Amino acid sequence: MYLFSGSDCITLYFVNWQREISITEIDGKKVVVKRNKMSKNLHDYLIVMTYAILSILLAHPSTPPEFGNKTTSNEGFEMREKLRLIGIATPSLISISDNLLVEEFVQGGDLHEALSNGSNFSLSFAAGIITGRLHKSGYSFTDNKSQNYLVGSTNKVLRTDLAFIKKNVSVFAKSMDVGTFLGSLLSLDTEKYKAMENAFYEGYYTEVKSPIPYLSIPLRNILGFGLSMGSNWVVNVLLESAKMISNRRKFGFSVKSP
Ligand SMILES: Nc1ncnc2c1ncn2[C@@H]1O[C@H](COP(=O)(O)OP(=O)(O)O)[C@@H](O)[C@H]1O
Ligand SMILES: [Mg+2]
Repeated sequence: MYLFSGSDCITLYFVNWQREISITEIDGKKVVVKRNKMSKNLHDYLIVMTYAILSILLAHPSTPPEFGNKTTSNEGFEMREKLRLIGIATPSLISISDNLLVEEFVQGGDLHEALSNGSNFSLSFAAGIITGRLHKSGYSFTDNKSQNYLVGSTNKVLRTDLAFIKKNVSVFAKSMDVGTFLGSLLSLDTEKYKAMENAFYEGYYTEVKSPIPYLSIPLRNILGFGLSMGSNWVVNVLLESAKMISNRRKFGFSVKSP
């Protein structure tokens, strides 16, 4: 991550972020400004293509999420209100246009950072609850990595980066959500990874009361390398078969087709 400090604003750059993220103050309140980078369209296109190709390779052909205007409207006031009504908190939106979004700054940073710096079962459990609630309501996130969750005061977990929310709860769509979340955590050390995976499953199960979608682990393994970029990825993928079998006994895996 790179930090650039101007007179009244700090700009953060991180290789994985598709937008230029800066923190500034409006009316005495800290806000986050997200400005689209030139590469955003290409990045969105790659997400959509990856989704379509993986769904075909895994024998569950699925319509990919839309990009363009849809990604902007997904981040708007209406979607945030819809999420609030089903119990998913998001940062308050201040303004939105095609290239710029301003929202409330959430002090605790993103969930990936929080889990890398400490080990808090309840944060991963909360992400499982949020994912389960969205699936119960007939939607999926598509890009559900832990960097898209924020940790607020009193460890409240909020969801940001809503661009690829899609009305779809096929096995593939749900597995993408579980797979991208777990894949983004594969860089954690093995013990911590296992604890967080378990917490996420428990949170998810608490909400949906149905088995973990069965393509989650193959998708986690395929997408995990790109999402976590760490050597622990190999360890967590290879040393996990025993854990997978015990989770299958505990939570089950759905084998239903969409
Ligand atoms: N409201 C916020 N408060 C604090 N940090 C944020 C906020 N929104 C985003 N971030 C940080 O910026 C990163 C990138 O933001 P995100 O909305 O996911 O954009 P991108 O489209 O680039 O992925 C997040 O992973 C998080 O670390
Ligand atoms: Mg993001």
